[in-house]
Amino acid sequence: MATNAAQSQNAKPLRIAIAGLGTVGVGVIRLLATNHDLIAARAGRAIEVVAVSARERGKDRGVDIASYAWEDDMTALAARDDVDVVVELVGGSDGPALALSRAALGKGTGLVTANKAMIAHHGLELAEMAEEAAAPLKFEAAVAGGIPVVKGLREGTSANALTKVYGILNGTCNYILSAMEATGADFAETLAEAQGLGYAEADPTFDIEGIDAAHKLAILAAIGFGAKVDFAAVSTTGIVQVRAADIAQADALGFVIRLIAEADVKDEGGVPKLLQRVRPCLVAKDHPLANVDGPTNAVVAEGNFSGRLLFQGAGAGDGPTASAVVADLIDIARGFGKSGEVGAPFSMPVAQLQAFGAAEPGHRMERTYLRFTVNDRPGVLAEITAAMRDADVSIESLIQQGRANEGGEVLVAMVTHEGPEANVRRALELLDGSDSLTGEPLVLPILPN
Ligand code: NDP
Ligand code: HSE
Repeated sequence: MATNAAQSQNAKPLRIAIAGLGTVGVGVIRLLATNHDLIAARAGRAIEVVAVSARERGKDRGVDIASYAWEDDMTALAARDDVDVVVELVGGSDGPALALSRAALGKGTGLVTANKAMIAHHGLELAEMAEEAAAPLKFEAAVAGGIPVVKGLREGTSANALTKVYGILNGTCNYILSAMEATGADFAETLAEAQGLGYAEADPTFDIEGIDAAHKLAILAAIGFGAKVDFAAVSTTGIVQVRAADIAQADALGFVIRLIAEADVKDEGGVPKLLQRVRPCLVAKDHPLANVDGPTNAVVAEGNFSGRLLFQGAGAGDGPTASAVVADLIDIARGFGKSGEVGAPFSMPVAQLQAFGAAEPGHRMERTYLRFTVNDRPGVLAEITAAMRDADVSIESLIQQGRANEGGEVLVAMVTHEGPEANVRRALELLDGSDSLTGEPLVLPILPN
């Protein structure tokens, strides 16, 4: 440690510029200040902030930024000759974040970002620019906040063929679902709490519609399966339709509800296809993901030699996200391009990533929870079960919630035996337009243990 400390005092610091001084940007400044000496010892040199940019210069951010140069136009950070790495913590798939990132890599300056939307949409282009410039591009914080899952898949499981990657990738949804479960509070109230705690995206529809998890899944699938990032192919369903009554029904059946993102590659007619989807699922209470509560994220990777690996931790918030950003900076400070920490942000050069077609999961087998809201009148249950019979869907259990008043709306929930996904879709098509149903049915797959 003494030698390291001496070396770190003599070595030139890694000079960084930070764009975005919100939750994560301020978290990074605090972490770098608090752990300055420890980081310098581990990285072999200090990491120093030289310049910053955000929208409003005069805003009180709770940290002292007076000693850093300020740029009104954040793209100017990339043009500075005293900056080794630009840290993009603004957000948004396009706009100023992308302009800054292109400018940095175009000049051969390293880029660290927490921006999953940008990496999901433009990651290949940026990775190509990074390769061309032999500059580092790192985005650990873009997936699952403080969990080192990008590093885990890119380096830790690199000897394996992965069979499956899945998990809980959105802290806001997980906070909402587990809080609704614990308190019975309604959706809107719980979302407001998550926003107040700094978990939600600037546009929270990205969280609750599953888009944020889809961004992260597209990145993980690329790294895990050597695939070209294909965000457009992620099938996405959010949690807006999940009611407190569904959480109660799931509980009675021995499950919790979690927003699950999953990816795998399987042969379809001899051609490998990539399945990527985000959807709320029923998770058995004895599954490791069932106890993942609050803004926690968890990723399961199944490797052909490693077996099942579980990465779990805080998926959002200033501290955990800053931890991931600074870990990337430390990797770069340790010697990008010198000690094996080279290029290939997606684990292999862009030219070697495969463009898998999107999988058609209809033939895949799963158990399903179905919830109908129906008019409480004779024959309704028979109509629903007839549709199940005609589509060859076998019902394992069925619950009808007691009615409050005669002729009102009641909730019918059922769990199916394992069967092809397409059959459930067919049953719902048969019921489409039925005047027995008072709302859209909710379909929640049951995650296999
Ligand atoms: P915030 O909204 O808290 O902060 C965004 C910052 O960017 C603010 O400082 C804002 O300036 C600045 N900014 C926004 N638009 C512009 C613009 N047009 N020009 C200049 N500055 C601008 O976001 P977060 O810190 O929460 O998120 C940052 C990134 O990190 C996003 O990509 C997000 O997805 C990602 N991320 C966030 C996590 C979290 O837990 N919050 C977790 C993992 C990733 P000003 O302050 O002056 O308004
Ligand atoms: N809004 C994101 C979440 C932040 O809720 O998980 C972390 O990426």
